[in-house]
Amino acid sequence: MFYDTETNGHGLPHDPIKAIVAPRPIGWVSSLGPDGAVNLAPYSYFNIFASNPPIVGFSSEGLKDSVSFIAQTKEFVCNLVSWDLRDAMNATSAPLPRGESEFVHAGLETAPSRLVAPPRVKASPASLECRLVSIQELTTADGRKLDRWLVLGHVVGVHIDESCIVNGRFDITTAKTIARCGYADYVVADKVFSITRPRGA
Ligand SMILES: Cc1cc2nc3c(=O)[nH]c(=O)nc-3n(C[C@H](O)[C@H](O)[C@H](O)COP(=O)(O)O)c2cc1C
Repeated sequence: MFYDTETNGHGLPHDPIKAIVAPRPIGWVSSLGPDGAVNLAPYSYFNIFASNPPIVGFSSEGLKDSVSFIAQTKEFVCNLVSWDLRDAMNATSAPLPRGESEFVHAGLETAPSRLVAPPRVKASPASLECRLVSIQELTTADGRKLDRWLVLGHVVGVHIDESCIVNGRFDITTAKTIARCGYADYVVADKVFSITRPRGA
């Protein structure tokens, strides 16, 4: 089948686009408001765009609290979501009144960060401390503004749960990282295979 996204005439009960661009890693973003309010929310429009130095980013559909907090305080932490944290992660996606902590709502413990002010999720297998690089409003190809906000951060510090380091590598099957698919679906990292790149690549 083919459809154009102007008409979005896929004829399916649900838009398949997010099931096609999947699985997506989840940035579980902790941030602080200017008054010190703690915020935590999952973002699956999340990825790494450079590795050395590491640059990560997420996108918000509408100007959500995470973006407006980060715009003001310039720092955030991206916490990795494990299988064990799946329900807590989902609970933190609930729209709470501003100022009410999602950590408390989801029964999660915070741990202090080292180089940035927002706390991290203590039980997360890995957390990336970020300083804000830019916030950019996304547009269509013809320049129409979308009220979708791309937040890029420079990762200045990395926390890793030592138990996830196996033979010198961060082992995602030990971390049991989960990732977002379309609909209400997720996958869990339970099987990994390796392919070596061709010489000279
Ligand atoms: C797994 C998962 C992934 C999500 N990914 C995004 C996303 O990429 N962009 C977005 O705008 N909302 C996303 N959401 C919804 C936000 O988490 C939700 O709107 C949340 O209340 C935003 O919190 P905030 O206003 O504190 O930033 C996602 C929700 C879940 C459960």
